[in-house]
Amino acid sequence: MINEDPTRMPVLPVSAYTSQEWFDLEQKLIFSKVWAFAGFPEDLVNTGDHTTVQAGLNNILIIRGNDGTLRAFHNICRHRGARMLRPHGKSASAITCPYHDWTYDFEGNLKGIPNKREEFPDLDPACLSLHKASLAIWRGMVFVHPDPEAPPIEDWFGPVAPYLGPHQPDQMMEIPQAADETIIKANWKFVAENYIDAYHLPLLHSGTLGMYDHRNAETGFVGDHFAFYEPLASDYSENLEKNAPSPLIDFGNNHRVGAYVPLLFPGIGLSETEISWSIFHIVPLAPDRTLVQTRTKLPTASEAAFTKAERRSSSYWRNKVGPKYEGDPEMDPMASGDFMAEDIFACEQQQASLSSPYFSVGASADIGEKPVRDYQKIIERWMQQTT
Ligand SMILES: [Fe+2]
Repeated sequence: MINEDPTRMPVLPVSAYTSQEWFDLEQKLIFSKVWAFAGFPEDLVNTGDHTTVQAGLNNILIIRGNDGTLRAFHNICRHRGARMLRPHGKSASAITCPYHDWTYDFEGNLKGIPNKREEFPDLDPACLSLHKASLAIWRGMVFVHPDPEAPPIEDWFGPVAPYLGPHQPDQMMEIPQAADETIIKANWKFVAENYIDAYHLPLLHSGTLGMYDHRNAETGFVGDHFAFYEPLASDYSENLEKNAPSPLIDFGNNHRVGAYVPLLFPGIGLSETEISWSIFHIVPLAPDRTLVQTRTKLPTASEAAFTKAERRSSSYWRNKVGPKYEGDPEMDPMASGDFMAEDIFACEQQQASLSSPYFSVGASADIGEKPVRDYQKIIERWMQQTT
């Protein structure tokens, strides 16, 4: 598909990837209006365990109550409006704003104004509860929505659910060493577009993702969420028990083996494979800066089972994975043999060109890059909202 307008890429204007004004509007019109990923329930095990998450313009606190329930509130003291809780904490006894020590219980009720109650003779504490936000647990993930009256999360994610993997992440074990946070020097939409770009898979990742059959990938949007499935490559699947680098997930018979790699709108990537489940959480920081948080879960299995799988599959992988180009893997992402490093490099190289007067997107692939065009149209629609 030839691109007729050199200032578009291909649907959105170049300024969508560079301007602070666009970025701020996205925070207001997109990220403030969707369910935001906030971690796993097991992150907050005990009463008083809490975390905070930015949902567009809103900072939301999540805390586990005395009754074991997770609740979400806007992280704003009702006294002077200060942000209260710092990002993470364990077993707090109450929610306290450090500015003037106004204190709330785990259900958001104003509990106390230490020492100075006489300063507020007319104050009715019932009117100054924390503003509630919505919280839901869906497929083993915690989500929050700034609107306390948000429609059920199933309304939002339900349509794409049949296209996701058969995985049950709440029954898998997280590998803490695999958790990672990376800052990418690119607009968050480049990271999302890279995630859904089927055209680049056998090209950029010629040395790193050969275990999947990219030619038979099935892609498409369901509502605003992107669904992606591709089968295993035949040489890998022929002897999967031997070739899998770690224990296979037991799904029973009733599913298709392969990689399910959806992008939940706007920036929650999942990678659900025959051996693992990971989340790839895209967090916009600035027009040209994006944080990506990844967390990975594996099936519960003994250490011996992992060692055995690694050992018996090593001969297969020795020839299977390698760098795209020869070079120093420490210095050159293209020599790293690491598909994530390859993707980051591609996103940053795209961002780096945007300031050039010669920049343009000249063409995009009819099938392989359709998801990118569709995604940009979805972003465009959200940005056309008037409030
Ligand atoms: Fe990629």
